[in-house]
Amino acid sequence: MSADLGFVHIFHPPATADAPILLLLHGTGGNEHDLVSLKEALMPEAGVLSPRGQVLERGMPRFFRRLAEGVFDVDDLKQRTQDLAGFVARASAHYGFSREGVVAAGFSNGANIAASLLLLEPATLGGAILFRAMVPLVPDPLPSIPRTPVLVSNGRRDPLVAPAETERLTELLRTAGADVTLAWQDGGHELTQADVAQARDWLTRARTPAPRKS
Ligand code: MLT
Repeated sequence: MSADLGFVHIFHPPATADAPILLLLHGTGGNEHDLVSLKEALMPEAGVLSPRGQVLERGMPRFFRRLAEGVFDVDDLKQRTQDLAGFVARASAHYGFSREGVVAAGFSNGANIAASLLLLEPATLGGAILFRAMVPLVPDPLPSIPRTPVLVSNGRRDPLVAPAETERLTELLRTAGADVTLAWQDGGHELTQADVAQARDWLTRARTPAPRKS
């Protein structure tokens, strides 16, 4: 664990030169350790960059402030998205990987800031896996993220994310040019084995560019 580069984080280099770096983004109340085992299940040879969210909500780390459940503080979200993009840029220079090789894997609040990175700071990511994501904000104009691979893995019976919200997010990212795969899960807001299995297959197919020394 390191507190350098602006965020408390974990970094593990990839085991092979062509493997991606997974930017692991935890849900509300999580921390930088939460999703490291998910990386093992998704792609053991991938590297890991796993920051801890800097907002505390009643002691629970998050990546940006919310005003109520599902109601986001958009000014804070914009600032925190910029801060996270700056961190990934500094980590890329410090650890020697290219940002095109970075694939976000975020859950809930972490998926929402990953979607916000795609929409506001698109140079930060080569792709993204969004587990239980919402529309974080709608930028005007939309960015152009042609062919950026994105997996949206949401639950049909999620009490926090209505199916229409999932479809709105998918449409928004497609309109921006992303190559979006929507994986509907049978369950609710919790992550399941089916999520992980489908994300693993998607990640293997997505053929993200290799991280290089920059
Ligand atoms: C959460 O609990 O993290 C919410 O459902 C999503 C968010 O607030 O970003």
